[in-house]
Amino acid sequence: MSKVVVMDHPLIKHKITMIRDKNTGSKDFRELVTEISTLMAYEVTRDFPLTEVEIETPITRMMSPVIAGKKVGLVPILRAGLGMVDGMLNLIPAAKVGHIGLYRDPETLKPVEYYCKLPMDVSERDLILLDPMLATGGSAIAAIEFLKRSGAQSIKLVCLIAAPEGIKAVQNAAPDVDIYLGAIDEKLNDHAYIVPGLGDAGDRLFGTK
Ligand code: PRP
Ligand code: URA
Repeated sequence: MSKVVVMDHPLIKHKITMIRDKNTGSKDFRELVTEISTLMAYEVTRDFPLTEVEIETPITRMMSPVIAGKKVGLVPILRAGLGMVDGMLNLIPAAKVGHIGLYRDPETLKPVEYYCKLPMDVSERDLILLDPMLATGGSAIAAIEFLKRSGAQSIKLVCLIAAPEGIKAVQNAAPDVDIYLGAIDEKLNDHAYIVPGLGDAGDRLFGTK
């Protein structure tokens, strides 16, 4: 069964409270999502392996740790996942970025795929799948299945807010994908929106609706 990591850092909790607030406008919402994503990148990269290199300080020579040539791919689920890319790139600037376009049909609640473009060497990269909201889990599962069909060997899922239903669905469908979350909420409502949640993440990021 996959690991579920809920980030309990006070800065993340504080900033998630601010994005939940319906009075937070798009400009602040975008900035906060970027900041939260940078803080989450810190935890998501915790297991990156290190190797030692020899350097010379002004005082002496020494062996010192550096990241061991990790190849990372960030994959935002469009649209709302785009809001998390810059924050992650702040800490992992050499990552390549792929895109998966999915929207949730409002009637069936099933994900509809409309665009996909991934790095060529996807099978050699540690992929970090980005989406602020994990509701029913349908979008995340469709994206994970697409990544696996494209050759992905290593996938982590990073979301700001999740419903218990979505976590369970992803764990059942993809027990090898660890899930990193900013918060776990109470439930889904009748329209499969997360309660209390933050509303429609894409609309709040981009000022649509
Ligand atoms: C939102 C969100 C997730 C999905 C979550 O996207 O960003 O991708 O819903 O719901 P699920 O877990 O039930 O699949 P949406 O479909 O609204 O598209 P958008 O990002 O383009 O607004
Ligand atoms: N998508 C969103 O943007 N918000 C939710 O609460 C559920 C799905």
